[in-house]
Amino acid sequence: MKEIIAELIAKSSGMKKEEISNLIEIPPTPELGDFSFPCFSLSKKMKKSPNIIAEELKKKIKTGKEIERIETKSGYLNFFTNKKIYSENIISEVLKEKENYGKGNEKKKQKIAVDFSAPNIGKPMHIGHIRSTILGDSILKIFDFQGHEVIGINYLGDIGLHIGKLIVAYELWLDKDSLKKDPVQELLRLYIKFCDQEKTEYQEGLEEEFQDNEWTNKAKEKLLLLEKGDEKTKKIWKEIQDSSKKGFNRVYSLLNVNFHETTGQSLFSEAGKKIITEALKKGKAKLEKDGAVYVEFPDMPKKYILRSNGTSSYITYDIGAAVERFKKYKFDKMIYVTDFRQELHFKQLFEILKLFGYDFYSKLYHIGFGTVNFGNEILATRKGKVILLEDVLKKTIEKAEEEIKKRKTKGDADKIGVAAVKYAFLKNEPRKDVNFSWEQALNFEGNTGPYLQYTYARANSILRKSGKTPKAKISFSLKKEEFELIKKLSEFPEQVRHSSLQLNPSIIANYSFELAQKFNEFYHSSQVINSENEEEKLAIVKAFMFVLKSSLSLLGIEVMEQM
Ligand code: ARG
Repeated sequence: MKEIIAELIAKSSGMKKEEISNLIEIPPTPELGDFSFPCFSLSKKMKKSPNIIAEELKKKIKTGKEIERIETKSGYLNFFTNKKIYSENIISEVLKEKENYGKGNEKKKQKIAVDFSAPNIGKPMHIGHIRSTILGDSILKIFDFQGHEVIGINYLGDIGLHIGKLIVAYELWLDKDSLKKDPVQELLRLYIKFCDQEKTEYQEGLEEEFQDNEWTNKAKEKLLLLEKGDEKTKKIWKEIQDSSKKGFNRVYSLLNVNFHETTGQSLFSEAGKKIITEALKKGKAKLEKDGAVYVEFPDMPKKYILRSNGTSSYITYDIGAAVERFKKYKFDKMIYVTDFRQELHFKQLFEILKLFGYDFYSKLYHIGFGTVNFGNEILATRKGKVILLEDVLKKTIEKAEEEIKKRKTKGDADKIGVAAVKYAFLKNEPRKDVNFSWEQALNFEGNTGPYLQYTYARANSILRKSGKTPKAKISFSLKKEEFELIKKLSEFPEQVRHSSLQLNPSIIANYSFELAQKFNEFYHSSQVINSENEEEKLAIVKAFMFVLKSSLSLLGIEVMEQM
């Protein structure tokens, strides 16, 4: 319909159809029509007031069978569609395209890499990684749906001071049986034990890197041994990695998240160092007296990019990884998804790449997300100072199970629990903090994942109970709630586009919620089964199911036929 309107305006205004299409809005209230076109941008070009332009356009445009009338108001052209024709078009289109409805067939297909999840070997995934995992996965799905080529990259923190610490602890205190039984737990115990020792000698206010105490130094020595390729140290490192990955994979399979590439940071050490050495030669990086290499910026603190003992640090690997990935993929965009506290790190990284002459720096983006608050709810299984991702998921699934029993309904507790967690995170804009509460996340009536799943199942039960075949036709006059639902369905392609342009899945989450609400209003106001136009109304229900399913799939949420 938007296309039709854009075409009509194009004929009468001389503007390009595509340009118009981007400007057309959906008015906030039905009194302002079904679509409206703001004339403000034409005003400058034509040197006339928007009101006058609107009036003139109104006179010129010949309405066809799809558009009933046009009104003008405060510089807008408001289009009132023929509701029957319009609705029938939408319903037929959805039922014809099914799960492909709303898919973009971008002519300018891009290659988009997303670096997300990226937990650290030897440490369990914590709640910060859950946001990265869920957010990154959703962004990837949205771009994929838009028709782009996507590459999901899991960049494991397999090297760094924490690895040095773990190797020290492993040699001193490993309990082999525990490692076999619960590798994640045993590695966490070792890590915490090391940190406790180290903390007693910690210098307040000094960054970890620069701590000069017996324990931190031991960890640094192990790191150096590892970089030199010491066999014994390498063997322990490998064992730690294997145990750790088992734990990560358990979480990924619970969340149903996959990657196209999983690579450890360590792989990029050499590449990073080589680039830095070159930059040093060209005078783009500077040498400290103690041998450390740094870069200075006009508007940011200086950044060390190589340690004085020659070993790599977090940014060394990132420099190498970015360059290698660009060589490999020639991406149009690469998006890093991490906690907002790494914002400076990425700003510096992008600036460094620019300074070193890598033009692809302009294709790099960072999404920094806020923190997750659990309020007063303390996890019974809280271990040490971290809240573990796996514990949160398991507890949510347990609670979903209780809820299913209480309500005597059907449904898959795993799917409901995972939906509850994913939705609770994704409905918030990435930058915002999330206040997580189980009660809220699992509420079947609120703005939650389970509510959306439940609404889908409710729609399905109408189709099941009726048993008749949906018919994509509208021959009756539509009630307000029916038309509003259909209009909401038609917004889906646009919403996907917005969320991809803004790198913001919360747009899809909010849309899903609004759509489900429109459906529930329809459900309460309009009889489907045994009504005069049963087949036609079933088609509306069926179309709703396709769109909600697609929309939720972009958030990584699965629906169920029954709940
Ligand atoms: N491993 C890091 C962490 O847990 C995140 C890595 C993000 N990706 C990157 N290319 N630096 O905080």
